[in-house]
Amino acid sequence: MPRIRTTTFRKRKEAGEKITVLTAYDYPSAKLLDECGIDAVLVGDSLGTAVQGRNDTLGVTMDQMLYHTSMVSRAVENAMVIGDMPFLSYQLGAEEAVRNAGRFITEGGAQAVKLEGPVDKFGHSIAAIVQTGIPVMAHIGFTPQSIHQLGGYKVQGRGDQARQQLKEEALGLQQAGCFAIVLELVQQDTAAEITEMLTIPTIGIGAGPHCDGQVLVMHDILGFGPQRTFFKVFGDARGAMETAFCNYIREVREGSFPTEEQGHR
Ligand code: KIV
Repeated sequence: MPRIRTTTFRKRKEAGEKITVLTAYDYPSAKLLDECGIDAVLVGDSLGTAVQGRNDTLGVTMDQMLYHTSMVSRAVENAMVIGDMPFLSYQLGAEEAVRNAGRFITEGGAQAVKLEGPVDKFGHSIAAIVQTGIPVMAHIGFTPQSIHQLGGYKVQGRGDQARQQLKEEALGLQQAGCFAIVLELVQQDTAAEITEMLTIPTIGIGAGPHCDGQVLVMHDILGFGPQRTFFKVFGDARGAMETAFCNYIREVREGSFPTEEQGHR
């Protein structure tokens, strides 16, 4: 199967076929996800909250992101691997943004990068990354790297003014050359209007059913995250692991594992 590319994303939107994206942070889960046929694997900076035990994503570094992106890239053969640019890796100017985006490709083995934020602040950097030949996925609405400014997890794009502002941002990001836009916690009618208006696909997370695709955090769909209304637990991996851990501990303690057959003669 040929690798999923930005052109595949565009064709999917034109054909009305949904685009599937999920996060992964390590080799075995990324390999399984790729084998299941996911379109894109996002090595999200949700690494901070899903894996590192942080309260937010702000402390995640470039080196940590590259370490995890390279594990995922070694596993994935068909899906597009997207590296998520961490806080302060693209906000300080176009030159540094291009250098760090380039590291996701050369050191991380990714095929694209994602970054958060409005076009009026980062449009110049986005255009510079795109001109370097690196596909950029944008991310607007609730942007976790701005959690302190946004005042917590809040739905964005409610009310005429907020809706208009998000629509302008989305259009500006398309003009800057982004190949897709993540809409996070965007009021669903606003998300539908943005999706209708753009030629590039929208990928929703907590943005309702009308986006061109969906993205979620792997640990959330497996039952490891705190429950939120915008995602669904698709399989109780947490429960399966708990059973395996408890059975192992019990069998070792009671002496039923290992048996002589499970040893070497
Ligand atoms: O970091 C991340 O995983 C993300 C997705 C949830 C969109 O940004």
